Amino acid sequence: MAINKRGREGVRRRDVLTLAEGLIGAVSLGACFTATPSHAAPIAFTEAQCGDKSLADRKILVAYASKYGSTGGVADAIGQTLCGKGATVDVRLMKNVRNLEAYQGVVLGAPVYMGKWLPEAADFVKQNAEALGRVPLACFVVCMLLHEPTPDNMAKALAYLDPVLKAAPLLKPVGVGAFAGALDYGNLSWATKKIMQSKAQPEGDFRDWKAIHAWAEASPLAK
Ligand SMILES: Cc1cc2nc3c(=O)[nH]c(=O)nc-3n(C[C@H](O)[C@H](O)[C@H](O)COP(=O)(O)O)c2cc1C
Repeated sequence: MAINKRGREGVRRRDVLTLAEGLIGAVSLGACFTATPSHAAPIAFTEAQCGDKSLADRKILVAYASKYGSTGGVADAIGQTLCGKGATVDVRLMKNVRNLEAYQGVVLGAPVYMGKWLPEAADFVKQNAEALGRVPLACFVVCMLLHEPTPDNMAKALAYLDPVLKAAPLLKPVGVGAFAGALDYGNLSWATKKIMQSKAQPEGDFRDWKAIHAWAEASPLAK
């Protein structure tokens, strides 16, 4: 659309300031979900193996996605419980999983960010739906909503999986779980921290190891 001379002249100082503020806002909003502060401690993403490799008839993959590592701790605890039940378990970041052929069962987990299961996890489900449909599958969610583990919050947390499973209608998980996660403000950019504080998101590690082990132990994959 052409802008005539009068229109250009009509742009007043206040409009320019509003535009500048908008741009700064857009840039900082973009930055707030990507940038991490320079003082942030290095984040560990657990990958592990347990169980007797020679008994490869019950090999289970626990694959997870994560931004700040807390979901890896949950995945590892689930893996250890399944090993305690006689399975051989690989705990892997989803992005490092190359094929699912070797496994007789799969557990997939990811945290919730901005009301959604981490998109890379949702993509993993879609891209591997056929292979996942051939083995017993369990899925879990990690989120801060469950720092108050009321029945209502549990229902809301499990519902984060609904769109993911709707996009892969042939998958019928043998189990779904939801667990409280951990939030370290030290990992977040200044802007993200301010947003989380304004929403009164509590900081801390709320992972309930007893609940996580109990869920894994009760899972059909543990049988
Ligand atoms: C920017 C941001 C957005 C988040 N959004 C949600 C949310 O919508 N719902 C929720 O319950 N938890 C939310 N959380 C909490 C995370 O799900 C929780 O901290 C989780 O343990 C992070 O997992 P990770 O350490 O594996 O990345 C959010 C955390 C951050 C930092």
